[in-house]
Amino acid sequence: MTKVTFVDADGNKTTLDARDGDNLMQAAIADGIDGIVGECCGAMMCATCHVYVEEPHLTTLPQRSEGEEEMLECTASERRKNSRLSCQIKIGPDIDGIVVHLPEEQ
Ligand code: FES
Repeated sequence: MTKVTFVDADGNKTTLDARDGDNLMQAAIADGIDGIVGECCGAMMCATCHVYVEEPHLTTLPQRSEGEEEMLECTASERRKNSRLSCQIKIGPDIDGIVVHLPEEQ
């Protein structure tokens, strides 16, 4: 299990023990986190799983794929330099303690 924290647009934090091997979008949906939709179930076709990743994990995550880069052009909320698709973030010891902020809208 890996600790992941979601911070909503109002600053409310929710920390979960997420199952290794899932992705961050799946963990959010399984726990009923508002603000992650995951419309395409992780197929990189919707950008409704957009999050802003805090340091230090932002720099240690694997780089965005070309497909993720393209989908991030379609986010409902502003794209920032720390924007990622949560369905592309694999849960495991490497991201233990990660903190992600949810955008105002998806
Ligand atoms: S769930 Fe659709 S792009 Fe991530």
